[in-house]
Amino acid sequence: MAVTGATSGIGLIGIQVAKALGAMTVICTTRSQDRARLLRHAGADVVIVTWTQLVSQALLDATGGRGVDVVFDHVGGQILASCLPGIRDGGSVINIGRLGRGLIDLDALSYRHLILRGVLFGLEPPDQIGDVIAALTGDVISAVPDGRTRPVIDAVFPFDQANDAIARVRGGSPDGKVVLAMS
Ligand SMILES: NC(=O)c1ccc[n+]([C@@H]2O[C@H](COP(=O)([O-])OP(=O)(O)OC[C@H]3O[C@@H](n4cnc5c(N)ncnc54)[C@H](OP(=O)(O)O)[C@@H]3O)[C@@H](O)[C@H]2O)c1
Repeated sequence: MAVTGATSGIGLIGIQVAKALGAMTVICTTRSQDRARLLRHAGADVVIVTWTQLVSQALLDATGGRGVDVVFDHVGGQILASCLPGIRDGGSVINIGRLGRGLIDLDALSYRHLILRGVLFGLEPPDQIGDVIAALTGDVISAVPDGRTRPVIDAVFPFDQANDAIARVRGGSPDGKVVLAMS
């Protein structure tokens, strides 16, 4: 599987959940060579630095030419478009974030029989929430206490330094979550 914009908070947990669920190869994208180590530490097997590599070719190379089963996409736009030829026939894209710009080629979707799904966490239809929670119990929940999934924390600020915490979030790309501690 592949995760685009994988240094996002959801991406860093997503890598770990994918591993807990048995994904053999987790391939992550970032725009920054400097953040490759963060992704590997979270469990990425392969890191694609998007401005240095053709994403679709890198996905094919990492999967022996077959293509990935699923892409968890935090970016959309050009990055999503560049993933499509690197997904196996009948594979899926779950779009989570829409940070990037650019159009996707619908031919790339149809020729490979791909499924493109949008999600809005917290606002899933009520009749599906039970299925989501049921799917989480078992492999995903058990991965928390045994340490296979754990939050990636960039920094912890005391509550009276909330402005500094906000500045940390606004000022760039924190390596994981910025936490406000309340005593
Ligand atoms: N569907 C939902 O229910 C749901 C829930 C939560 C969040 N989201 C969305 O998921 C996305 C990620 O959330 P976040 O708060 O973790 O975002 P974020 O921290 O702003 O960005 C996530 C990562 O994406 C990369 N990135 C940022 N801007 C980019 C751009 N213009 N083009 C390509 N890559 C870019 C950066 O990674 P590098 O610098 O390493 O490239 C960044 O670390 C956001 O779009 C957010 O709105 C959706």
